[in-house]
Amino acid sequence: MMQTINMCRFFLLLAGIMILDLTSSVVASLVKGDDRSVSIPRSSSQYLAQRSAPVPQMSGPPVCGQFNTGDKKDFEQLQYDMSGDKSNVTTPAKKCRRQRCKNTTGVYVCNDNDHDVIIPYLTIREFAAKPGKECCTKRYTDSKGISGQQFSDQNWNVIIAYANCNHPQDQDRPGFGPAGDPWGPNGACEN
Ligand SMILES: *[C@@H]1O[C@H](CO)[C@@H](O)[C@H](O)[C@H]1NC(C)=O
Ligand SMILES: *[C@@H]1O[C@H](CO)[C@@H](O)[C@H](O)[C@H]1NC(C)=O
Repeated sequence: MMQTINMCRFFLLLAGIMILDLTSSVVASLVKGDDRSVSIPRSSSQYLAQRSAPVPQMSGPPVCGQFNTGDKKDFEQLQYDMSGDKSNVTTPAKKCRRQRCKNTTGVYVCNDNDHDVIIPYLTIREFAAKPGKECCTKRYTDSKGISGQQFSDQNWNVIIAYANCNHPQDQDRPGFGPAGDPWGPNGACEN
């Protein structure tokens, strides 16, 4: 009987030590968290703004085929190029900007905010991949044309569409029509 009680005490003690250990590691990580927020340079408001910006999420499914089409092969090449680009790119307030161009295909960012947005190319690539995969799904040998648009939850969107890389970057626009040639040189967006 005495021995059983001693064993019980032993296990209670053990459990107590384990709980204490768990608590101290939680406290330690809380302290670490404090350290990190203290180390933010308060003089840099830009850094603070960037740090607090939430990661952009896709908003709804892509909208397909409402622009003159780009070419699926060019688009693949553009996606490949962007996969190695760690830089960020600015899109001015209330503007669409052709951010990438290959032959007759452009990747545009349209910014509906009244402030500029700075987006990593890797994010643009990720957004473009959605219409790239889900729009104009007929295989390349049957239909080259591709166009689509993916909206974000941050009031900007990414567009795949026809582009003329000879035009200055800030004067090229995703469009549609004219009536006799609605899709442009790369043909229809077909499923
Ligand atoms: C772009 O056009 C050039 C010449 O017109 C062609 O050789 C090249 O294959 C095209 N690029 C893609 C990705 O289709
Ligand atoms: C791009 O922006 C992010 C913040 O969104 C920043 O952490 C990163 O350093 C920037 N990269 C370059 C190359 O400027």
